[in-house]
Amino acid sequence: MDREAPIGIFDSGLGGLTVAAAVHALLPSEDILFYGDSAHAPYGIKSPEAVRERCFTIGDHLLDQGAKAIVIACNTATSVCVDDLRKRYKVPVVGMEPALKLACDRGGGRPQRIIVAATPLTLKEDKFARLMARFQADHTIMTQPCPDLVTIVESGRLDDPDAIRQALDRYFGGYDLTQVDSIVLGCTHFVFYRRNFERYCPSSVAIVDGNEGTARHLRDLLEERGALNQATSRGRVAIGNSDPSPRLESLSRQLFKRLS
Ligand code: SIN
Repeated sequence: MDREAPIGIFDSGLGGLTVAAAVHALLPSEDILFYGDSAHAPYGIKSPEAVRERCFTIGDHLLDQGAKAIVIACNTATSVCVDDLRKRYKVPVVGMEPALKLACDRGGGRPQRIIVAATPLTLKEDKFARLMARFQADHTIMTQPCPDLVTIVESGRLDDPDAIRQALDRYFGGYDLTQVDSIVLGCTHFVFYRRNFERYCPSSVAIVDGNEGTARHLRDLLEERGALNQATSRGRVAIGNSDPSPRLESLSRQLFKRLS
């Protein structure tokens, strides 16, 4: 495997930039090819077949560009087709999963009350049912679909506190958050709202996401294969998108910058 080849990272849109930032922070000498599928976002309300087809197209594109690994920086796409992509490609394929284990482990053995925020499709897929089955006997786990939190990012309205507050009220206003231990951000778009969640919730609520765990898992896989880039210079992060408009290009750059 070519150590200097780039790591391909893709998402239904711009949420995966949060994963690209985590990978760039952990593995600064790696080149990254990020591809957002904003022209087809959101995935979370599409059929599994439509999502699978998009993932094959994007995965093939990243492989054509020489990617030495693929990160599916999208919980929805991972739920639908991580196994299909692993069968299709020889390079390592890393997926996302709502960080439920991390949230449960925070209790150090005490039962936890957890809300998993994700897209409707992630919460409907068998992969999530299997994840729930591992933890629900010992913990109280609630699920909350939040599709509008994807569209706010994609439409460049992250600086609109009223729109965000209204969305959080719509999705979380019905919970007694003083009785909740953590909220799992089970969609990479939601990581952009970490501060908003922290302000919205009592300070006793931990806001948990799986980005760093995913970056570490990727590092371990590359290390096992002797495929980590040994360069001492900083890697290049190239950002592509299925929506070729200048608006998307500048929004992507702006969002990536606010993460670094
Ligand atoms: C979406 O496109 O609906 C969000 C993708 C995700 O689950 O990360």
